[in-house]
Amino acid sequence: MKIGIDKIGFYAPHLYVDMIELAEKRGVDPDKFTIGIGQDKMAVAPITQDAVTMAANAASDILDDADKQAIDFVIFGTETGVDSSKSAAVYVHELLGLNPYARAIEVKQACYGATAGIQMAKAHIAMNTDSKVLVLGSDIARYGLHTSGEATQGAGAVALLISADPHIMALEDQSVYFTADVMDFWRPVYSDKAFADGKLSNEQYIAFFSKVWEQYKAKSGLGFEDFEAMTFHLPYTKMGKKALNPVLDETTEDVQERLKSNYQISTGYNRNVGNIYTGSLYLSLLSLLEQKDDLQASARIGMFSYGSGAVGEFFTGILQNDYRNYLCIKQHSALFASRREVTVEEYEAIFEETLPTDGARVELDVKNDPAEICLAGVTAHKRQYVNKSNG
Ligand code: COA
Repeated sequence: MKIGIDKIGFYAPHLYVDMIELAEKRGVDPDKFTIGIGQDKMAVAPITQDAVTMAANAASDILDDADKQAIDFVIFGTETGVDSSKSAAVYVHELLGLNPYARAIEVKQACYGATAGIQMAKAHIAMNTDSKVLVLGSDIARYGLHTSGEATQGAGAVALLISADPHIMALEDQSVYFTADVMDFWRPVYSDKAFADGKLSNEQYIAFFSKVWEQYKAKSGLGFEDFEAMTFHLPYTKMGKKALNPVLDETTEDVQERLKSNYQISTGYNRNVGNIYTGSLYLSLLSLLEQKDDLQASARIGMFSYGSGAVGEFFTGILQNDYRNYLCIKQHSALFASRREVTVEEYEAIFEETLPTDGARVELDVKNDPAEICLAGVTAHKRQYVNKSNG
Protein backbone atom coordinates (compact mmCIF):
# COMPACT_ATOMS: atom_id res chain seq x y z
CA MET A 1 0.00 0.00 0.00
CA LYS A 2 1.27 3.48 -0.86
CA ILE A 3 1.31 6.01 1.99
CA GLY A 4 2.42 9.61 1.65
CA ILE A 5 1.63 13.25 1.09
CA ASP A 6 -1.89 13.82 -0.20
CA LYS A 7 -2.00 17.63 0.09
CA ILE A 8 0.41 20.40 1.14
CA GLY A 9 -0.65 23.76 2.56
CA PHE A 10 1.56 26.72 3.39
CA TYR A 11 1.14 29.99 5.23
CA ALA A 12 3.45 32.92 5.93
CA PRO A 13 2.48 36.16 7.70
CA HIS A 14 1.55 39.11 5.47
CA LEU A 15 4.55 41.22 6.54
CA TYR A 16 8.19 40.99 5.49
CA VAL A 17 11.41 42.94 5.75
CA ASP A 18 13.75 43.29 2.78
CA MET A 19 17.19 41.81 3.44
CA ILE A 20 19.02 44.60 1.58
CA GLU A 21 17.32 47.18 3.81
CA LEU A 22 18.21 45.14 6.89
CA ALA A 23 21.85 44.77 5.79
CA GLU A 24 22.17 48.52 5.21
CA LYS A 25 20.73 49.31 8.65
CA ARG A 26 23.11 46.80 10.25
CA GLY A 27 26.15 48.17 8.39
CA VAL A 28 26.67 44.88 6.54
CA ASP A 29 27.40 44.43 2.82
CA PRO A 30 23.97 43.39 1.36
CA ASP A 31 25.73 40.68 -0.69
CA LYS A 32 26.46 38.87 2.55
CA PHE A 33 22.72 38.39 3.17
CA THR A 34 21.55 37.87 -0.41
CA ILE A 35 24.53 35.82 -1.70
CA GLY A 36 26.58 34.69 1.32
CA ILE A 37 23.50 33.52 3.25
CA GLY A 38 21.03 33.45 0.36
CA GLN A 39 18.02 35.34 1.70
CA ASP A 40 16.04 38.11 -0.05
CA LYS A 41 13.05 38.66 2.26
CA MET A 42 12.27 37.68 5.82
CA ALA A 43 8.68 37.08 6.97
CA VAL A 44 7.73 39.03 10.09
CA ALA A 45 4.98 37.65 12.33
CA PRO A 46 2.67 40.31 13.80
CA ILE A 47 1.54 39.75 17.39
CA THR A 48 -1.74 38.34 16.04
CA GLN A 49 0.12 35.31 14.60
CA ASP A 50 1.77 32.54 16.58
CA ALA A 51 2.70 28.89 15.92
CA VAL A 52 -0.95 27.84 16.39
CA THR A 53 -2.55 30.38 14.06
CA MET A 54 0.07 29.97 11.33
CA ALA A 55 -0.41 26.18 11.31
CA ALA A 56 -4.20 26.53 11.30
CA ASN A 57 -4.01 29.00 8.40
CA ALA A 58 -1.72 26.62 6.45
CA ALA A 59 -4.11 23.70 6.98
CA SER A 60 -7.44 25.48 6.50
CA ASP A 61 -6.59 26.13 2.83
CA ILE A 62 -6.24 22.46 1.95
CA LEU A 63 -8.81 20.54 3.99
CA ASP A 64 -12.29 19.72 2.70
CA ASP A 65 -15.14 18.31 4.82
CA ALA A 66 -14.22 14.69 3.98
CA ASP A 67 -10.63 15.30 5.14
CA LYS A 68 -11.89 16.87 8.38
CA GLN A 69 -13.93 13.74 9.11
CA ALA A 70 -11.14 11.32 8.15
CA ILE A 71 -8.36 12.99 10.17
CA ASP A 72 -7.99 11.07 13.43
CA PHE A 73 -4.49 12.20 14.36
CA VAL A 74 -3.01 15.72 14.46
CA ILE A 75 0.74 15.88 14.98
CA PHE A 76 2.19 19.34 15.52
CA GLY A 77 5.95 19.77 15.11
CA THR A 78 7.18 23.02 16.64
CA GLU A 79 9.98 24.47 18.73
CA THR A 80 8.16 27.75 19.34
CA GLY A 81 4.90 26.43 20.76
CA VAL A 82 2.76 28.56 23.05
CA ASP A 83 2.33 26.27 26.05
CA SER A 84 4.64 23.87 27.88
CA SER A 85 1.75 21.57 28.71
CA LYS A 86 -1.20 21.78 26.31
CA SER A 87 -0.31 20.83 22.74
CA ALA A 88 -0.69 23.33 19.91
CA ALA A 89 -2.42 20.49 18.01
CA VAL A 90 -5.48 20.69 20.30
CA TYR A 91 -6.01 24.37 19.44
CA VAL A 92 -5.70 23.67 15.70
CA HIS A 93 -8.06 20.69 16.00
CA GLU A 94 -10.72 23.03 17.43
CA LEU A 95 -10.06 25.96 15.07
CA LEU A 96 -10.49 23.71 12.03
CA GLY A 97 -13.51 21.79 13.34
CA LEU A 98 -11.90 18.35 13.01
CA ASN A 99 -13.50 15.01 13.93
CA PRO A 100 -13.47 14.83 17.78
CA TYR A 101 -12.47 11.15 17.74
CA ALA A 102 -8.85 12.06 17.10
CA ARG A 103 -5.46 12.15 18.82
CA ALA A 104 -3.72 15.53 19.02
CA ILE A 105 -0.10 15.90 20.15
CA GLU A 106 2.93 18.16 19.89
CA VAL A 107 6.37 16.82 18.91
CA LYS A 108 9.66 18.56 19.67
CA GLN A 109 13.19 18.04 18.38
CA ALA A 110 14.20 21.44 16.98
CA CYS A 111 13.60 21.61 13.21
CA TYR A 112 13.15 17.82 12.96
CA GLY A 113 9.70 17.65 14.69
CA ALA A 114 7.51 17.58 11.58
CA THR A 115 9.63 14.80 10.04
CA ALA A 116 9.14 12.69 13.17
CA GLY A 117 5.42 13.48 12.75
CA ILE A 118 5.40 12.27 9.14
CA GLN A 119 7.06 8.97 10.08
CA MET A 120 4.57 8.46 12.94
CA ALA A 121 1.72 9.28 10.56
CA LYS A 122 2.97 6.70 8.07
CA ALA A 123 3.03 3.98 10.73
CA HIS A 124 -0.45 5.02 11.95
CA ILE A 125 -1.93 4.80 8.45
CA ALA A 126 -0.30 1.40 7.84
CA MET A 127 -2.40 0.17 10.82
CA ASN A 128 -5.51 2.27 10.04
CA THR A 129 -5.78 2.47 6.28
CA ASP A 130 -8.87 4.71 6.10
CA SER A 131 -7.55 7.37 8.40
CA LYS A 132 -5.75 10.58 7.47
CA VAL A 133 -3.17 12.36 9.59
CA LEU A 134 -2.60 16.10 9.67
CA VAL A 135 1.10 16.87 10.23
CA LEU A 136 1.99 20.50 10.98
CA GLY A 137 5.33 22.30 11.12
CA SER A 138 4.99 25.86 12.39
CA ASP A 139 7.47 28.27 13.95
CA ILE A 140 8.67 31.81 14.43
CA ALA A 141 12.48 31.83 14.21
CA ARG A 142 13.92 34.38 16.65
CA TYR A 143 17.60 34.93 17.40
CA GLY A 144 17.39 38.60 18.41
CA LEU A 145 18.00 42.02 16.91
CA HIS A 146 21.64 42.74 15.98
CA THR A 147 22.72 39.09 16.41
CA SER A 148 24.55 37.08 13.74
CA GLY A 149 21.50 34.82 13.53
CA GLU A 150 19.18 37.77 12.80
CA ALA A 151 19.51 37.36 9.04
CA THR A 152 18.31 33.76 9.37
CA GLN A 153 15.00 34.50 11.12
CA GLY A 154 11.55 34.06 9.55
CA ALA A 155 8.06 32.78 10.28
CA GLY A 156 5.62 30.39 8.67
CA ALA A 157 3.95 27.01 8.63
CA VAL A 158 3.47 23.99 6.42
CA ALA A 159 0.55 21.56 6.71
CA LEU A 160 0.81 18.05 5.26
CA LEU A 161 -2.12 15.72 4.88
CA ILE A 162 -0.78 12.15 5.06
CA SER A 163 -2.93 9.33 3.73
CA ALA A 164 -3.04 6.01 1.89
CA ASP A 165 -3.04 6.31 -1.94
CA PRO A 166 -1.68 9.88 -1.73
CA HIS A 167 -2.15 12.26 -4.64
CA ILE A 168 1.21 14.06 -4.45
CA MET A 169 4.01 11.83 -3.18
CA ALA A 170 4.33 8.24 -1.95
CA LEU A 171 6.92 7.93 0.81
CA GLU A 172 9.35 5.04 0.39
CA ASP A 173 10.15 2.78 3.33
CA GLN A 174 13.93 3.08 3.28
CA SER A 175 15.12 5.88 5.53
CA VAL A 176 18.20 6.55 7.64
CA TYR A 177 18.22 8.55 10.88
CA PHE A 178 21.01 9.58 13.21
CA THR A 179 21.19 11.15 16.70
CA ALA A 180 24.10 12.72 18.59
CA ASP A 181 24.16 15.11 21.57
CA VAL A 182 25.44 18.38 20.12
CA MET A 183 25.05 21.92 21.55
CA ASP A 184 24.80 23.70 18.21
CA PHE A 185 21.43 25.41 18.78
CA TRP A 186 19.12 25.45 21.79
CA ARG A 187 16.52 27.58 23.57
CA PRO A 188 16.27 27.29 27.37
CA VAL A 189 12.69 27.46 28.68
CA TYR A 190 13.26 30.95 30.11
CA SER A 191 14.27 32.48 26.79
CA ASP A 192 12.10 33.62 23.88
CA LYS A 193 15.17 33.73 21.62
CA ALA A 194 17.32 30.84 20.45
CA PHE A 195 21.03 30.52 21.12
CA ALA A 196 23.23 29.14 18.37
CA ASP A 197 26.84 28.23 17.82
CA GLY A 198 26.51 29.08 14.15
CA LYS A 199 29.78 27.60 12.93
CA LEU A 200 29.21 24.36 14.88
CA SER A 201 25.65 24.03 13.57
CA ASN A 202 26.86 24.45 9.98
CA GLU A 203 29.53 21.77 10.54
CA GLN A 204 27.14 19.35 12.24
CA TYR A 205 24.48 19.77 9.57
CA ILE A 206 27.03 18.91 6.88
CA ALA A 207 28.43 15.97 8.89
CA PHE A 208 24.94 14.57 9.60
CA PHE A 209 24.00 14.76 5.92
CA SER A 210 27.17 12.98 4.92
CA LYS A 211 26.59 10.21 7.54
CA VAL A 212 22.96 9.49 6.63
CA TRP A 213 23.62 9.72 2.89
CA GLU A 214 26.50 7.18 3.10
CA GLN A 215 24.34 4.83 5.17
CA TYR A 216 21.37 5.30 2.85
CA LYS A 217 23.45 4.36 -0.19
CA ALA A 218 24.75 1.25 1.58
CA LYS A 219 21.25 0.16 2.65
CA SER A 220 19.37 0.99 -0.55
CA GLY A 221 21.95 0.41 -3.28
CA LEU A 222 20.81 3.73 -4.81
CA GLY A 223 22.94 6.77 -5.68
CA PHE A 224 22.51 10.38 -6.87
CA GLU A 225 21.67 9.17 -10.40
CA ASP A 226 18.45 7.64 -9.01
CA PHE A 227 17.24 11.06 -7.82
CA GLU A 228 15.57 13.82 -9.77
CA ALA A 229 16.17 16.27 -6.92
CA MET A 230 17.53 16.47 -3.37
CA THR A 231 15.73 18.81 -0.98
CA PHE A 232 17.02 20.04 2.37
CA HIS A 233 16.06 21.62 5.64
CA LEU A 234 16.92 25.25 4.88
CA PRO A 235 17.72 27.49 7.87
CA TYR A 236 19.02 29.74 5.07
CA THR A 237 19.18 28.83 1.43
CA LYS A 238 22.95 28.38 1.18
CA MET A 239 22.94 25.67 3.87
CA GLY A 240 21.77 22.70 1.78
CA LYS A 241 24.24 23.55 -0.96
CA LYS A 242 27.07 23.49 1.58
CA ALA A 243 26.11 19.90 2.47
CA LEU A 244 25.36 18.69 -1.07
CA ASN A 245 28.26 20.12 -3.09
CA PRO A 246 31.14 18.34 -1.29
CA VAL A 247 29.69 14.88 -2.08
CA LEU A 248 28.34 15.54 -5.58
CA ASP A 249 31.58 14.58 -7.30
CA GLU A 250 30.67 10.91 -6.79
CA THR A 251 28.27 11.18 -9.74
CA THR A 252 28.40 12.24 -13.41
CA GLU A 253 28.45 15.87 -14.52
CA ASP A 254 24.94 15.58 -16.01
CA VAL A 255 23.50 14.37 -12.71
CA GLN A 256 25.43 17.04 -10.81
CA GLU A 257 23.95 19.73 -13.07
CA ARG A 258 20.43 18.36 -12.63
CA LEU A 259 20.68 18.20 -8.85
CA LYS A 260 22.29 21.66 -8.59
CA SER A 261 19.66 23.22 -10.82
CA ASN A 262 16.77 21.56 -8.96
CA TYR A 263 18.33 22.54 -5.63
CA GLN A 264 18.26 26.17 -6.76
CA ILE A 265 14.55 25.90 -7.63
CA SER A 266 13.86 24.24 -4.27
CA THR A 267 15.13 27.33 -2.44
CA GLY A 268 12.66 29.76 -4.10
CA TYR A 269 10.03 30.13 -1.39
CA ASN A 270 12.52 29.83 1.49
CA ARG A 271 14.59 32.69 0.04
CA ASN A 272 11.53 34.92 0.40
CA VAL A 273 10.25 33.72 3.78
CA GLY A 274 13.37 32.93 5.81
CA ASN A 275 13.79 30.16 8.33
CA ILE A 276 10.54 28.54 9.47
CA TYR A 277 12.34 25.82 11.47
CA THR A 278 10.12 22.68 11.42
CA GLY A 279 8.44 23.56 8.13
CA SER A 280 11.59 24.58 6.24
CA LEU A 281 12.29 21.26 4.50
CA TYR A 282 8.67 21.01 3.39
CA LEU A 283 8.62 24.62 2.18
CA SER A 284 11.64 23.72 0.08
CA LEU A 285 9.87 20.64 -1.29
CA LEU A 286 6.89 22.85 -2.09
CA SER A 287 9.10 25.38 -3.90
CA LEU A 288 10.40 22.60 -6.11
CA LEU A 289 7.02 21.03 -6.85
CA GLU A 290 5.23 24.32 -7.50
CA GLN A 291 7.99 26.14 -9.37
CA LYS A 292 9.34 23.40 -11.63
CA ASP A 293 6.52 22.55 -13.99
CA ASP A 294 8.28 19.72 -15.88
CA LEU A 295 8.98 17.38 -12.95
CA GLN A 296 7.70 14.00 -14.11
CA ALA A 297 5.51 11.59 -12.16
CA SER A 298 7.59 8.64 -10.84
CA ALA A 299 10.53 10.98 -10.14
CA ARG A 300 12.29 10.21 -6.86
CA ILE A 301 12.93 13.17 -4.52
CA GLY A 302 15.37 13.00 -1.59
CA MET A 303 14.64 14.86 1.65
CA PHE A 304 17.20 15.71 4.34
CA SER A 305 15.75 16.77 7.68
CA TYR A 306 17.98 18.22 10.41
CA GLY A 307 17.01 19.32 13.91
CA SER A 308 19.83 20.81 15.94
CA GLY A 309 20.74 19.15 19.15
CA ALA A 310 20.75 16.92 17.00
CA VAL A 311 18.73 14.47 14.89
CA GLY A 312 19.06 14.04 11.13
CA GLU A 313 17.12 11.86 8.71
CA PHE A 314 17.30 11.15 5.00
CA PHE A 315 14.18 9.74 3.38
CA THR A 316 12.63 9.68 -0.06
CA GLY A 317 9.38 9.93 -1.99
CA ILE A 318 8.04 9.20 -5.46
CA LEU A 319 5.87 11.74 -7.27
CA GLN A 320 2.42 10.43 -8.19
CA ASN A 321 0.48 10.72 -11.47
CA ASP A 322 -1.18 14.13 -11.90
CA TYR A 323 0.41 15.37 -8.66
CA ARG A 324 0.41 18.96 -10.03
CA ASN A 325 -3.41 18.98 -10.02
CA TYR A 326 -3.32 18.64 -6.23
CA LEU A 327 -0.95 21.55 -5.52
CA CYS A 328 -2.23 24.99 -4.49
CA ILE A 329 0.02 26.98 -6.82
CA LYS A 330 -2.41 29.89 -7.39
CA GLN A 331 -3.16 30.37 -3.69
CA HIS A 332 0.52 30.38 -2.82
CA SER A 333 1.45 32.86 -5.52
CA ALA A 334 -1.44 35.10 -4.32
CA LEU A 335 -0.12 34.81 -0.75
CA PHE A 336 3.33 36.03 -1.85
CA ALA A 337 1.86 38.78 -4.02
CA SER A 338 -0.29 40.20 -1.22
CA ARG A 339 2.45 40.57 1.38
CA ARG A 340 3.44 44.04 2.61
CA GLU A 341 6.98 45.26 3.18
CA VAL A 342 7.72 46.84 6.57
CA THR A 343 10.65 49.10 7.36
CA VAL A 344 13.45 47.87 9.60
CA GLU A 345 12.10 50.16 12.35
CA GLU A 346 8.61 48.64 12.04
CA TYR A 347 10.10 45.13 12.11
CA GLU A 348 12.08 45.99 15.26
CA ALA A 349 8.95 47.35 16.97
CA ILE A 350 6.97 44.20 16.06
CA PHE A 351 9.85 42.02 17.25
CA GLU A 352 9.85 43.69 20.68
CA GLU A 353 6.06 43.49 21.17
CA THR A 354 5.03 41.06 23.91
CA LEU A 355 1.86 39.64 25.45
CA PRO A 356 1.11 40.11 29.17
CA THR A 357 2.53 37.42 31.47
CA ASP A 358 0.71 38.57 34.64
CA GLY A 359 -2.80 37.43 33.73
CA ALA A 360 -3.88 40.87 32.49
CA ARG A 361 -6.45 40.93 29.71
CA VAL A 362 -5.48 42.19 26.28
CA GLU A 363 -7.51 42.45 23.09
CA LEU A 364 -5.56 42.52 19.82
CA ASP A 365 -6.65 44.29 16.66
CA VAL A 366 -7.24 41.40 14.27
CA LYS A 367 -8.67 43.74 11.58
CA ASN A 368 -5.09 44.69 10.66
CA ASP A 369 -4.22 41.06 9.99
CA PRO A 370 -5.71 39.67 6.75
CA ALA A 371 -5.27 36.06 7.91
CA GLU A 372 -8.41 33.99 8.45
CA ILE A 373 -7.21 32.66 11.80
CA CYS A 374 -5.65 35.05 14.32
CA LEU A 375 -4.74 35.43 17.96
CA ALA A 376 -7.40 37.85 19.23
CA GLY A 377 -6.11 38.36 22.75
CA VAL A 378 -5.25 36.87 26.10
CA THR A 379 -7.55 36.55 29.13
CA ALA A 380 -6.43 35.15 32.49
CA HIS A 381 -3.34 33.52 30.90
CA LYS A 382 -5.49 31.90 28.18
CA ARG A 383 -4.88 32.67 24.51
CA GLN A 384 -8.06 33.60 22.64
CA TYR A 385 -8.11 32.55 19.00
CA VAL A 386 -10.54 33.59 16.30
CA ASN A 387 -11.43 31.94 13.00
CA LYS A 388 -12.96 34.84 11.03
CA SER A 389 -14.65 32.46 8.59
CA ASN A 390 -16.87 31.27 11.46
CA GLY A 391 -18.43 34.73 11.58
N1 COA B 1 29.48 38.93 -0.18
C1 COA B 1 29.18 37.61 -0.39
N2 COA B 1 29.30 36.67 0.59
C2 COA B 1 29.69 37.08 1.81
C3 COA B 1 30.00 38.43 2.08
C4 COA B 1 29.89 39.38 1.01
N3 COA B 1 30.16 40.68 1.18
N4 COA B 1 30.36 38.52 3.38
C5 COA B 1 30.28 37.26 3.91
N5 COA B 1 29.86 36.40 2.96
C6 COA B 1 29.64 34.96 3.09
C7 COA B 1 30.68 34.23 3.91
O1 COA B 1 31.83 33.91 3.12
C8 COA B 1 29.91 33.01 4.36
O2 COA B 1 29.84 32.08 3.31
P1 COA B 1 30.30 30.55 3.58
O3 COA B 1 29.44 30.06 4.72
O4 COA B 1 30.00 29.84 2.30
O5 COA B 1 31.73 30.59 3.93
C9 COA B 1 28.50 33.56 4.56
O6 COA B 1 28.45 34.79 3.84
C10 COA B 1 28.16 33.84 6.02
O7 COA B 1 29.18 34.61 6.56
P2 COA B 1 29.69 34.39 8.04
O8 COA B 1 30.79 35.33 8.31
O9 COA B 1 29.91 32.93 8.31
O10 COA B 1 28.37 34.89 8.80
P3 COA B 1 28.02 34.93 10.31
O11 COA B 1 29.19 34.76 11.18
O12 COA B 1 27.22 36.18 10.45
O13 COA B 1 27.07 33.65 10.56
C11 COA B 1 25.34 32.02 10.37
C12 COA B 1 26.19 33.05 9.62
C13 COA B 1 24.43 31.29 9.38
C14 COA B 1 26.25 30.98 11.04
C15 COA B 1 24.49 32.77 11.43
O14 COA B 1 23.56 33.56 10.77
C16 COA B 1 23.78 31.84 12.41
O15 COA B 1 24.33 31.50 13.45
N6 COA B 1 22.51 31.46 12.10
C17 COA B 1 21.70 30.63 13.00
C18 COA B 1 22.11 29.16 13.04
C19 COA B 1 21.86 28.45 11.77
O16 COA B 1 21.11 28.86 10.93
N7 COA B 1 22.50 27.26 11.64
C20 COA B 1 22.37 26.45 10.46
C21 COA B 1 22.28 24.98 10.71
S1 COA B 1 20.73 24.49 11.43
